[in-house]
Amino acid sequence: MTLALGVLASGRGSNFQAILDAIHKGTLDAVVKVVLSNKSSALALERGRTHRIPSIFLDPKPFAESQDPRDAYDRAVGQVLHEHGVEAVVLAGYMRIVTPALVRQFPWKIFNIHPSILPSFPGLHAQRQALEWGAKVSGCSVHFVTEGVDEGPVIIQMTVPVLEDDTEESLSARILEQEHVAFPKALQWFAQGRLAREGRRVTVLPSRDREGEAPERTNIL
Ligand code: GAR
Repeated sequence: MTLALGVLASGRGSNFQAILDAIHKGTLDAVVKVVLSNKSSALALERGRTHRIPSIFLDPKPFAESQDPRDAYDRAVGQVLHEHGVEAVVLAGYMRIVTPALVRQFPWKIFNIHPSILPSFPGLHAQRQALEWGAKVSGCSVHFVTEGVDEGPVIIQMTVPVLEDDTEESLSARILEQEHVAFPKALQWFAQGRLAREGRRVTVLPSRDREGEAPERTNIL
């Protein structure tokens, strides 16, 4: 069954684009029902409009008056997603902390991509953190979103070297290439019902129609 996705994005939306491209190529059995941003200028909204996908700017400002602004905003986000028939939610460069008010509406059905090998370098500017730490490898992680920031069980990680002359931009670009591979792959495993989880450990079950094939790599070096 085709997976109905809702995408939350705050910026450029290249991960969103990679997801659209994978759908177009037939390597991801999904449909994007809505893209929502907390930034009116997000290029991700433009990309959505180009593909005739409902593309919504939900302004956080009016929620500032609420008793708990973040919760109130996330309840509204959840409502938009439900109204569009979304089954699973993709955080594609969504630069807001998602509160339990949203996580509890889509338990184990929210996915994030983060530009580091978690649990190293959570939060903002992960690539800058890796450089400043002097890490020799970095990469990206796709993980389930739980109530702790960047803490959910990891589905796939892909690594890249950190080079001596790297800048934040050059390292980010190298990681981004891997992000565009990892995210559609992880979502396709979920769409196929192949993600099994025991505590924090996530495994990818063999594909039903490809028995006997080598297991999928979830740690791509
Ligand atoms: C990506 O590098 C993504 O991993 C990162 O923001 C960028 C968004 O790029 N996300 C985070 O740092 C989340 N904590 P994009 O808008 O081109 O997909």
